[in-house]
Amino acid sequence: MSVPTRHEPATGARGRVGASLPDFPWDSLAGAKARALAHPDGIVDLSVGTPVDPTPAVVADALRSAADAPGYPQTHGTAPLREAVAAWFARRRGVPGLDPDGVLPTVGSKELVAWLPFLLGLGAGDTVAHPAVAYPTYDVGARLARATPLGADTVEELQAAWDAGARIRLLWLNSPSNPTGAVRTVAELAALVAWAREHDVVVASDECYAELGWSKAHDTTAGGLVASVLDPRVCGNDHTGLLVAYSTSKQSNLAGYRAAFLAGDPVLVAELLEVRKHAGMIVPWPVQVALQAALSDDEHVAAQREVYRGRREVLRKALQGAGFRIDASEAGLYLWSTRDEPARTTVDLLADRGILVAPGDFYGPPGARHVRVALTATDERVARVGDRLADLA
Ligand SMILES: Cc1ncc(COP(=O)(O)O)c(C=O)c1O
Repeated sequence: MSVPTRHEPATGARGRVGASLPDFPWDSLAGAKARALAHPDGIVDLSVGTPVDPTPAVVADALRSAADAPGYPQTHGTAPLREAVAAWFARRRGVPGLDPDGVLPTVGSKELVAWLPFLLGLGAGDTVAHPAVAYPTYDVGARLARATPLGADTVEELQAAWDAGARIRLLWLNSPSNPTGAVRTVAELAALVAWAREHDVVVASDECYAELGWSKAHDTTAGGLVASVLDPRVCGNDHTGLLVAYSTSKQSNLAGYRAAFLAGDPVLVAELLEVRKHAGMIVPWPVQVALQAALSDDEHVAAQREVYRGRREVLRKALQGAGFRIDASEAGLYLWSTRDEPARTTVDLLADRGILVAPGDFYGPPGARHVRVALTATDERVARVGDRLADLA
């Protein structure tokens, strides 16, 4: 029997973990990126949702103030951080009375999304349901746990899969959605939570774009709100079996800090905390301090929201003027756009004009005729888009 060396991928009974994962989708965009980069006036890269504006001073100052950190930080996060999360939910999300014991900082939310099925003890034979058009890491997390991913958006689809024998143990929701920007109503969330409770399914709701609502119903500056799964109208003030994953990467330009958290059912959080303590999944102390500062200051979030609102308007007009239709996109950092043609045709058309966007097929087969246009480029770059699309108008 040959034993794999450190330099050879292991195969066979043990299996190579990477082999169970999809190809990294961005690799397929290399040709379009090269063409967009060749534009004489440079690329306008709207393909990734990575913030480009400065980290707010209030957060950077907090990070610096905690630079002296010789001891190990608490995996559960400090009490003041967990209280700041509870206060943020009460102030910004319409969720009073969140138990600070049910809060757990995470190293950004991508790691949490990728590892939650495993940390909850799911494995082969279990199913992880997630939106049919979705952030790809829900699927990856299911696969890392050797569970089965399932795209399902409605109670009817979940029930049909259940009746067909799928052992659904975890249901991911994502409102506002990446990539579509669709927002779930209170009634939709309540129906999904009721179904999950009936079937003893844990609900994990990824809500990281909640502060970036654009339609009147979801724009907090117009008195709107993006409902949380922890909202009493959704869950009847009972957080049992419910978790919210939240990230400050987008609303506070903190993607480089990896500053996020989980909040909800204290019993589930205690279970996760126990495993994460053993596994060393700890948010660095300076980042805990920065996260607390970010969540305690609403002003920088409001200012950043207006920056995105301006860019969104410029891009919306340019795209619609060039014959694109924009679907959903009620909230979040993307315009879910289509010319009613295959996504890769649209990607190529834009790349030839120096603009790079993400094809909707990255997010699942139903996205095959859309492209995702991110609002995360500088004002200077965004301002170029109208002229570059002028010949399509
Ligand atoms: C829906 C969704 N969840 C989670 C994340 C991960 O965010 P982070 O790891 O920066 O906290 C992203 C990032 O794009 C996202 O769009």
